[in-house]
Order: sequence, then C-alpha cells, then structure tokens
Amino acid sequence: MLSVDSIDLHYGAAQALRGVSLAAEPGKITCVMGRNGVGKTSLIRAVVGRKIPSRGRILWQGEDVTRLPSFERARRGIALVPQGREIFPLLTVEENLRTGFAPLERARRTIPDDVFSLFPVLAKMLRRRGGDLSGGQQQQLAIGRALVMRPKLLVLDEPTEGIQPSIIKDIGRAIAYLRQQGDMAIVLVEQYFDFARELADRIVVMDRGEVVLTGDAGALEEQAVRRHLTV
Ligand SMILES: Nc1ncnc2c1ncn2[C@@H]1O[C@H](COP(=O)(O)OP(=O)(O)OP(=O)(O)O)[C@@H](O)[C@H]1O
Ligand SMILES: [Mg+2]
Repeated sequence: MLSVDSIDLHYGAAQALRGVSLAAEPGKITCVMGRNGVGKTSLIRAVVGRKIPSRGRILWQGEDVTRLPSFERARRGIALVPQGREIFPLLTVEENLRTGFAPLERARRTIPDDVFSLFPVLAKMLRRRGGDLSGGQQQQLAIGRALVMRPKLLVLDEPTEGIQPSIIKDIGRAIAYLRQQGDMAIVLVEQYFDFARELADRIVVMDRGEVVLTGDAGALEEQAVRRHLTV
C-alpha cells in the first residue's frame, strides 16, 4: 500500500539517502531502525512530503505521490507524529488536537473516542497548554493529533525518545491496538530494540543513508540488528 522505491535524497550537495526502499501495508508495523544520523528522519520526510527526493518514487494506494506537497498527502490519509513532537506550546491540548482537522471535510471534524481511551490523560488536560505538559504527555498528544486525521498510514518518528518507561508502555499498547484494528499501515522509526521487537512485523535497518538489513521481525537475527544499532 505504501511503496518507497529506490529513493535518493539530498540536502544541497550532501546526500542523505541512497537507493532506499520501504514498504508498509494495512494491519502491519514496519519498523525503521538505525543509529543517529543514518537518514531515518530523511526517509520519513520523503514519505510525508516534507522533502522531495532527488531520485526514485513513492507510491501510496497505487498513486505516485513522490512530488505531492504534504497537505495533499495528509488529505490522502498520511499522518506524521514528528520527531521532537512539534506541539504548539501556547495552544491548549484541545486546540492542538483540533489542528488535526485541517485535512478533513467539515462533517468529519470530530475528535475520535479512541484518542481519549488510548490516552486518558489528554481528556483530563484538555484546557491545559501544550507547553505545560510533560514530554511523555506531549508525545501522547502528538499521537492523538495524528489520529484525529483518521490516517490510513501513520508514521511515527522515534516516539519513545526521551520518554519515561511507564508512558513508553502506554504508547506501545496504543500502537499495538491501532495495528489490530487492521485498516491502518504503520511505519515506526525506533532506536530502542526491545520496543521495536515487540511491535514490528517487518524491520528495516539503515546505516549511512542506505538500507543494510531487512526482513520479517521474527526471522531477523537479533545480533545482526543490534550490530547496526550500537556505536
Ligand atoms: N535539514 C537538513 N539540512 C542538511 N542536512 C541535514 C538536514 N537534516 C538532516 N541532515 C543530515 O542528513 C543526515 C541524516 O539525518 P537524519 O536526520 O535523516 O538522520 P536520523 O537517522 O533521523 O538521525 P536521528 O536518529 O538523530 O534522528 C545527517 O548527516 C544529517 O546531518
Ligand atoms: Mg531522526
């Protein structure tokens, strides 16, 4: 359903991705792993339309979206939980959630119940400013905001980065619940191997702008994956 086919991506003269391919399908979690600076976020930028690749193509539901701007991809059901969360600090939790309405037709502009059943803390803090939430609460808010769009492809860029263990568990449960619903494809960028192993159906390991290892999560040898994650 998502097919990234041999993309290159440049920042000026610097090449960040070389011939990277990736697939994702409904009801499955594709986990992208790799050390700092290997190009994981660059790949995600290409998928969501924040950066256009210099070679290769990206197909989503059979359509070539390689050069579509990000708001057009959002309208086609692609949602991002960005690295660093990008919560609006001066907006309330409710207002942050409502920013997810932007790509939706008026009739669909409601916050789905799932957001509050997965993350009850958001219901309790609706009037609180985003900037006053803890890092973990902001991460839950960032996921909630993406779910408001009722995505068909949910892309999460390191959702456990800097988050306390109890909230990491909640986030893991939420991602597992979304997979089990069966109609959403999930791409999860993750450096924390144990978290990835519990959730992933497929694992794609990157190193220096390239995919160096890929396979079904159950079949990949742990040592081989870990070798690419440790410095
Ligand atoms: N906006 C940018 N301008 C120039 N170079 C960039 C930019 N963003 C990333 N890079 C470079 O591209 C390469 C890949 O970076 P990227 O952020 O994609 O890696 P990453 O795997 O997401 O790292 P991390 O795990 O730290 O988030 C790095 O060398 C980085 O310095
Ligand atoms: Mg990154």
